[in-house]
Amino acid sequence: MPADHTHASSGCFDTAAQDAVYRAIFTRRDVRSHFLPDPLDDEVLARLLMAAHHAPSVGFMQPWNFIVIRDLQRRQKVRDLFLAARQQELPHIAEERQALYRKLKLEGICESPLNLVVTCDRSRSQNSPLGRWHNPEMDLYSTVCAVQNFWLAARAEGVGVGWVSIIDREALKQVLAIPEHVVPVAYLCVGRVSEFALRPDLERHGWGNRLPLAELVMSEIFGGDGESGLKETVTGLCAGRTAA
Ligand SMILES: Cc1cc2nc3c(=O)[nH]c(=O)nc-3n(C[C@H](O)[C@H](O)[C@H](O)COP(=O)(O)O)c2cc1C
Repeated sequence: MPADHTHASSGCFDTAAQDAVYRAIFTRRDVRSHFLPDPLDDEVLARLLMAAHHAPSVGFMQPWNFIVIRDLQRRQKVRDLFLAARQQELPHIAEERQALYRKLKLEGICESPLNLVVTCDRSRSQNSPLGRWHNPEMDLYSTVCAVQNFWLAARAEGVGVGWVSIIDREALKQVLAIPEHVVPVAYLCVGRVSEFALRPDLERHGWGNRLPLAELVMSEIFGGDGESGLKETVTGLCAGRTAA
């Protein structure tokens, strides 16, 4: 085996490490409240950025940049964009849900000690769109992978992250001087928190529930029946998690 490979069997994590990975996945939350004012240590932020930077990316394109925003005035400008966007979104929400929508806390832009924008530079493939010729949007998906790495690593470090998507993209680009060919993929509120909710906020407030996983599994073709054994196992796992 070449020196720069790990044998698959020794690559298997021990049980404690596996548990830690799943713990990060299952206890990660989108956080908009309970931010503490404490500044986030650069050492910690650096580790989270390293995690993001090790995400998979199409053609190893690594299309991301990370804009760290600490300045409160700039964040207030972004919060104004959020407030305007929320007003614009409201009429498109089903009428019977509008009162609940208005009550939901959907951002922590100014309460969190810092904001982070993860961008996608769509020109970074140097005219060699490996993996993107048929599906050019793969660079955007790669950037989302970086966001998820950041989010999971943050959870493991006890750092809260909340994604704010209710913002007009072009207006945000202007506020942050983002060039034309760069897309702001994720606007994140980041910081230490006093607590992580056990369940998603939107679930706790009656907006939605986690869908039954077994009903989302298909066999061979879209909508294909089958995989009853797998579905049963999945249902058992989900029941175990709900009971826990
Ligand atoms: C792409 C994306 C955009 C999101 N935008 C918002 C947002 O604008 N405001 C908000 O409060 N939550 C936002 N969220 C968080 C979701 O509401 C949250 O992930 C979902 O309710 C499940 O909760 P959990 O992340 O705590 O498990 C976003 C999540 C994703 C993945």
